[in-house]
Amino acid sequence: MIDLNRVKTGIKGFDQLVDGGFPKGSCILFAGSPGTGKTIFGMEFLYNGAVKYKEKGLFVSFEQEEQNIINSVRLFGWDMDSLIKKKMMHIMSIPAEEIKSSTAKEIMDFCKKNNIKRLVIDSLTTLSANAPIYTETKDVAVKDLINENTFFSPPIIGDAITRRFIYRFINMLRKIKGITSILISEASEKSEYLSKDGISEFVCDGVILVNFDTMGGDFSRQLIVRKMRDTKNDEDLHPLAITNKGIDVKKIKM
Ligand SMILES: Nc1ncnc2c1ncn2[C@@H]1O[C@H](COP(=O)(O)OP(=O)(O)OP(=O)(O)O)[C@@H](O)[C@H]1O
Ligand SMILES: [Mg+2]
Repeated sequence: MIDLNRVKTGIKGFDQLVDGGFPKGSCILFAGSPGTGKTIFGMEFLYNGAVKYKEKGLFVSFEQEEQNIINSVRLFGWDMDSLIKKKMMHIMSIPAEEIKSSTAKEIMDFCKKNNIKRLVIDSLTTLSANAPIYTETKDVAVKDLINENTFFSPPIIGDAITRRFIYRFINMLRKIKGITSILISEASEKSEYLSKDGISEFVCDGVILVNFDTMGGDFSRQLIVRKMRDTKNDEDLHPLAITNKGIDVKKIKM
């Protein structure tokens, strides 16, 4: 029986950690340090979505070119070209330096027009660091921050603008009915916050964290579901392997 309220990733060992899948319509922050498998996880979510669950997906990358993304997952046996031809899968590649304040709206409009059910943004960190640079001052309530007697250094204003952008972006996403999204976030290995902006982990409905364990053992990557609203989620650290078939979230050893 298909549970209409859960969006299955179909990723080996993962769905059972989150009550069968992500809550439908949720925004999930997928945070991890470099090379932990964030992009592969996002692509597998979309590939399985299209092939197993017949849901249309959009992958937005600010890091890699479309062909590069398609080639890198071919090693896992995922034929993205044919899914793209069938319009079950879309890839939007936007160089970071070409991100504009309108980019977020363009992504939303594309999702609505093409009946996208699964969205992956790679990464929210890059989008939120670049998009607000071009935001008009009337949109960011600069007057709330600056008055005649106070001086704010540019980085503080920059952080505030980035945060406001993230709130607005995630709220816009939630308003699109029936779209479940993974927002990839670049986390540093030992930071106080899960994200660089320090707020997206609070705003998103779910947070998954992947880290490198440099202490040795069979698997060096570890995944934990840090938060999942409306879900009785698993709270353990799980070894994460990348095999020739994709992501494999292992059971913890007793
Ligand atoms: N075919 C494969 N088989 C096994 N492991 C692979 C394969 N392809 C990639 N990997 C592993 O996956 C890692 C890259 O995964 P991915 O691109 O998803 O990481 P990421 O977290 O998105 O990294 P970044 O932060 O740099 O974007 C590689 O460093 C490599 O260790
Ligand atoms: Mg990546």
